[in-house]
Amino acid sequence: MKHLLSIADLGTDGIEEVLHLTDSFVEVSARPIPKVPALRGKTVVSLFYEDSTRTRLSFETAAKRLSADTMTFTVGSSSVNKGESLRDTVETLRAMGADAFVVRHGSAGVPWQVAAWSAGASVVNGGDGWHEHPTQALLDCYTVRRARAERGLDPALAGLRVAIVGDVKHSRVARSNVLAFAALGAEVTLVAPPTLLPPDLTGWPVEVSHDLDTTLAKCDVVYLLRMQLERQHEALVPSLREYTARYGLTSGRARLLADDALVLHPGPMNRGVEIAGDVATHPNAVITQQVANGVAVRMAVLFLLLGAGGDLGG
Ligand code: ASP
Ligand code: CP
Repeated sequence: MKHLLSIADLGTDGIEEVLHLTDSFVEVSARPIPKVPALRGKTVVSLFYEDSTRTRLSFETAAKRLSADTMTFTVGSSSVNKGESLRDTVETLRAMGADAFVVRHGSAGVPWQVAAWSAGASVVNGGDGWHEHPTQALLDCYTVRRARAERGLDPALAGLRVAIVGDVKHSRVARSNVLAFAALGAEVTLVAPPTLLPPDLTGWPVEVSHDLDTTLAKCDVVYLLRMQLERQHEALVPSLREYTARYGLTSGRARLLADDALVLHPGPMNRGVEIAGDVATHPNAVITQQVANGVAVRMAVLFLLLGAGGDLGG
């Protein structure tokens, strides 16, 4: 594996391989000194043209736990403001010794472009426009499996009923998660008003519902999406209040869930819009576990891209 641009690059076997390797890095992360020498001498660059808290910091943490060096590029304080192009930026960072680029950009397809210019360095898609966010999907699959195992439930995703709720139209998380959950055999239902669904779902391995209450009662996992207002350039719901009334996971509505149903959210959350504050802190909400597992999943991805011959010893 040279790059991780889309979940489709991995296929079912590749997803399984990353999830399997993640177990080792969860174990490393629990050590008093959570560091292994696997990527010593490698340099990982975060190339972020869009805001991020979790993805950027967890990739940087993952790289450091693997003993790689890190470089952070933040567009606001870079020479992009003097007119430097993406290509020149990539070539400049490569000339400084970058071995891997983690790329986030507001336009779909940019990580593929960076891969074409990266002269042998690996590229990981950290979120491109509305298109894909593959490491988010990997950490979500890992979190569901682990959380179910910890509760004494069958961890396999095959046959699991997953509801993905909210602003699917603008969500790269939804696109990667549909691919990943379906590849592992889960049954995915998208729940949203028609205005927040992509206009054409041909080829998506999903069911669609506009009735959250009925779906909640029969799902094993509910995955809430943020209302991505920064990407909505017209009024797609009558008001946020009405959206919450019909599609938010309010405290009342959460009572419809089965006792062992899990609640996930990629973050950042809009508490009180797509998820009530007390639902976000319920024991079956595994949102902070998603973040913690995200570091280990990203260690697995960097290790597979840069150091598969390396050493996991402490
Ligand atoms: N953080 C995720 C993303 O960048 C989800 C979100 O922003 O709502 O796609
Ligand atoms: N979930 C996620 O990608 O969060 P950030 O946008 O903070 O990276």
